[in-house]
Amino acid sequence: METTGPGGAADMRASTRARPGAKARPAVRAEERADRRGVDRCTILAGTASRGLADAVAREAGVPLGRVEVERFPDGELTVRIDESVRDRDVFLLQATSSPVNEHLVELLALADACRRGSAGRITAVVPYFGYARSDRRAGRREPIMAGLVAEVLEAAGVDHVVVIDLHTPQVEGFFRVPVDHLTAIPVLAEAARDRLEEGTVVVSPDVGAVDRATAFARRLGLGVAITHKRRVSGERVEVVRVIGEVEGKACLIVDDMISTGGTVAACVAALREAGAGDGFMVAATHAVLSPGARERLADAGVREVIVTNTVASEGEVWPALRVVSVAPLLAGAVRRLIAGESLSGLA
Ligand code: R5P
Repeated sequence: METTGPGGAADMRASTRARPGAKARPAVRAEERADRRGVDRCTILAGTASRGLADAVAREAGVPLGRVEVERFPDGELTVRIDESVRDRDVFLLQATSSPVNEHLVELLALADACRRGSAGRITAVVPYFGYARSDRRAGRREPIMAGLVAEVLEAAGVDHVVVIDLHTPQVEGFFRVPVDHLTAIPVLAEAARDRLEEGTVVVSPDVGAVDRATAFARRLGLGVAITHKRRVSGERVEVVRVIGEVEGKACLIVDDMISTGGTVAACVAALREAGAGDGFMVAATHAVLSPGARERLADAGVREVIVTNTVASEGEVWPALRVVSVAPLLAGAVRRLIAGESLSGLA
């Protein structure tokens, strides 16, 4: 049995109970009291894929983290138990649908169903990494569109609001009928990269579909953009067929939504080298999916630094070239605004 929340594995918070003789706190202002009322009607529940992140978001947002038990049976089935009332509460379910994708997805569905049956007021699925987002169209006949299917089952389970970060393509939002708040980690990643850049660095989009993301990134840092045009041969093999833009003698920063096998980055670096780019390749990607072999592939390609976020728990993935920046402040800001009924514009 895995437990998340207070007293669970992820509960590293210090006790906040007042000690006898402790100094009285200053009076709370009226707006803060009003703000607290929203917080007091709200709970964050963590799935097992995002325990560390949920704990950080709860602390940052000042919202209580509820206790959840997840039990896996010998036959592979699972169940969840929420150890407190969610009746009429504003519930945030924080769970990345990262590997093992199907396990984590079913867990999220079970949490949503449990909240719905427990009469929660609003159920918001905060899915920092949305698995299956790449299956957003049919590549051939008699193939599914998994991103659409996932959107449908989340809604069927009772989710009535979704928060995501850097979807593979923004149009995935269109698979949902419930509101989706699509946040981006580009500002967080760009700030992390800023002081590591060589003079004249070019931001590279690894494929034509990711140009908007690379352009937004480059604009924040005042850099130029180049594009590589890639062709996926299989799940693990990618070929870059063309480099578009001026890269000769320049350091390159490849910006992508995710690193899975590392095949895209490796192929992109090889093509940039051939086009005469200088050494010192950097990569910035929101989702560190990092399938087996990715680290070696990136090292063999000669990438000197990889900046990612913690939308996917790193599972001990630590190596000198890897730098992980946190999206907890971004998600905590979103949670606070949603509780207060405020716009998320300008958040990211
Ligand atoms: C594909 O279009 C995505 O934006 C990423 O470039 C890709 O999914 C990364 O996967 P991998 O690391 O396996 O090449």
